Amino acid sequence: MAHVSDLIASDIESYLRKHEEKSLLRFITCGSVDDGKSTLIGRLLYDSKMIFEDQLAALEADSKKVGTQGGNIDFALLVDGLSAEREQGITIDVAYRFFSTDKRKFIVADTPGHEQYTRNMITGASTADLAVILIDARKGVLTQTRRHSFLVKLVGIRRVVLAVNKMDLVDWSQERFDEIVADYTAFATSIGISEFVAIPISGLQGDNIAAKGQASPWYHGPILLPYLETVELDADRLQAGPLRLPVQWVSRPNLDFRGFAGQIARGTVRPGDAVRVLPSGRTSTVARIVAFDGDLNEAVAGQSVTLTLSDEIDCSRGDVIAAAADPPEAADQFETTLVWMADEPLLPGRPYWLKIGAKTVGASVTEIKHKINVNTLEHLAAKDLALNEIAVVNISLDQAVAFEAYEASADLGGFILIDRISNATAGAGMIHFALRRAHNIHRQALDVTPQSRAAAKGQKPAVLWFTGLSGAGKSTIANAVERQLHAAGKHTYILDGDNVRHGLNRDLGFTDADRVENIRRVAEVAALMADAGLIVLVSFISPFRAERRMARERVPDGQFFEIFVDTPLEVAEARDVKGLYKKARAGELKHFTGIDSPYEAPENAEVRIVPGQSADEAAAEIIKRLGL
Ligand code: ADX
Repeated sequence: MAHVSDLIASDIESYLRKHEEKSLLRFITCGSVDDGKSTLIGRLLYDSKMIFEDQLAALEADSKKVGTQGGNIDFALLVDGLSAEREQGITIDVAYRFFSTDKRKFIVADTPGHEQYTRNMITGASTADLAVILIDARKGVLTQTRRHSFLVKLVGIRRVVLAVNKMDLVDWSQERFDEIVADYTAFATSIGISEFVAIPISGLQGDNIAAKGQASPWYHGPILLPYLETVELDADRLQAGPLRLPVQWVSRPNLDFRGFAGQIARGTVRPGDAVRVLPSGRTSTVARIVAFDGDLNEAVAGQSVTLTLSDEIDCSRGDVIAAAADPPEAADQFETTLVWMADEPLLPGRPYWLKIGAKTVGASVTEIKHKINVNTLEHLAAKDLALNEIAVVNISLDQAVAFEAYEASADLGGFILIDRISNATAGAGMIHFALRRAHNIHRQALDVTPQSRAAAKGQKPAVLWFTGLSGAGKSTIANAVERQLHAAGKHTYILDGDNVRHGLNRDLGFTDADRVENIRRVAEVAALMADAGLIVLVSFISPFRAERRMARERVPDGQFFEIFVDTPLEVAEARDVKGLYKKARAGELKHFTGIDSPYEAPENAEVRIVPGQSADEAAAEIIKRLGL
C-alpha cells in the first residue's frame, strides 16, 4: 500500500540493501504487553545478531539508539513514531526495530495493542509480509486476537504466525495448545485467513523461538526464528506477476532522452518488452532500462529503475507502465474498504485528495455502505466515520486511474485519502473492484454551449455565494442584489437555504454530514444554472471551507464569487429574527451554527460585508465590486 510508513521504511530498506544483499522480511507483532509481546521481541533481538551502523542513526532525527545487553547483539535502533505524520500534527505510535541473522534481515513493526489504535496497526501492517499474532496460552483466543487478525487480513498480509505464548504457565499442555489452535482455525477460516502456522512458545524461557525447546517433545512444527528466516517473501510473489511500474517522475535532461522513473510494483521488465501506458492505453516497447550504474538487461518488482520507450508517447507522472498484453484496468469509481485515521470525521460528499500509486486525484466518498465493528465484525449503518473506524464505502474520483484489486497488488490497489485543507493523511483504503456504473454513463455531447446560452442573455454567468451565520443578513442582501440586477435587465435566480430545504433538500438535517450533502447538492444546482447562463445567488450558511471550495471548483474560473456576510455572533444573536438562537441557547435546538456547531470563516472571500450599512447599500457595493 502506498503509505506514509514507506517514508521511513523505504529509506531504511534502501540503506540496508546497499550494505547487505540478504533478503528483507518485514513483519508486525500483534498483541498486548500482557501477552508477552515485548518479551518476545526482546528475545528475537537477543537470539539474533543486530545490525549496527553509525549511519543508521543519522537516518532519522527521531531515531534513538538503544543499547541492549547480552547475546551477540550490539545495538538496536528504534524509530518511535513517524516524523512525517507528526509534522502534520498526528502522532502514530509505531516502533520499527531492525535486526539480522546470517540468513536474512528483518524490520519488525510494533504497535500498541489497544482497540483505539487501529490506525497504528494499519500503518505498521501496511508494508509487512507477515504478522506474528500473540496469544496468552492461559487466555486463548480473545476479542483482540480477532480484531488483530481481521486487520491483518484487511491490509493483505498473507502469512500469519500464531505464537501461543506462556506455554510454561500451562505446563506445556499439548491439549491446551490444540484447543487454542482449533478455536483460532474456526475464526480464521470465517474471515478468509486460510493458512497460518501455530507455534507453542515461551518468550520468557526462549523455547521454540530460536531453537526447539526441551519442554515440548510433542511439537514437531516450525520454530519461530528459522521459520521467519526461510518463509517466502511477498517480493518473490510480486516478481512473478505482469509488469506494473507507477511513474514517479519523468526526466528529460535533453531532447534525445526521456526516462520514466519509478519503483516496479509487480513483474519483470526487459528491453524489447511491449508495454501499455495507463490510463491512456497507448502502447510502445521498452528501449532501455537505465539504472544507477549502467543499463540493465532485466529489472524486477522492488527495484527502482528508469525506462526509456521506443516511441514518443504521452506518459506523465502518476501514469502506470504495464505489460501490453496484461494491463490493469482504469476506472474512476470503486468499492473499497476505508480505515479512517483523522480526528475530523469522514463526511460523504466532502472533497479529499486520493493518492494511489504515484498519482494524486480529487475524490469523495459517495456512499458509506456499512461500518464494521472490529471486535464483533458486525456490519453497522453509518452517516460518517470517526477516527479508527472501518467501513466499506464507494468512492468517486474526478478522473480515471489505473488500479488493481488490493488483493492482487497493494501498490496499485491501496490508496490514502488526504485532507485538502491540512494536507494530512486522513484515511487508508483498499480497492475491492471498480463500479461499472462509471462505464455505462457517458456524457452527452450538446450543440448549444454555455457560451451561446450566456450570449443569448447578454450577460456573463456567475455564482454569487453568500456565506455567514444564521441571521447574518445573507438572504436580505442577496434579495437586494437580485432586485438591482433584475432591474438592470439581468437574468438571475436565488437559491436560499430555507427554501431549498423545503424541497430538494427536505431529507437533510443539520449534522455535519447532512450540511455537507446540503451544500454539495446546491453547488451542483448552482453550477447547472451558471451553465444555463444565469447569474445565480446562493444564500446558505455553508459553514465549511471544504464544501465552499468544492462549489467554487464546480464552475469555470472567474465565475465564482464568495461573499462573506461577516456579522458577528453577538449581533446575529441579538437580532434573532426567527427566535432560533434563543431556542439553541435553551438547548431545544441541537447543532446550531455558532452555538454548538462550527462556522469556518472564509479566508479569501471576494467580498466581505460587515454590519453598518443597509441591505441596498451592501448590494450596490457587491455589484460594483464584482463588475456585474
Ligand atoms: S447549512 O449549514 O446547511 O448551509 P442552511 O443555510 O441550509 O444551513 O440552513 C440554515 C437555516 O436553517 C438557518 O437560517 C435557520 O433558519 C435554519 N436552521 C434550523 N436549524 C438550524 C441549525 N441547527 N443550525 C443552523 N440553522 C438552522
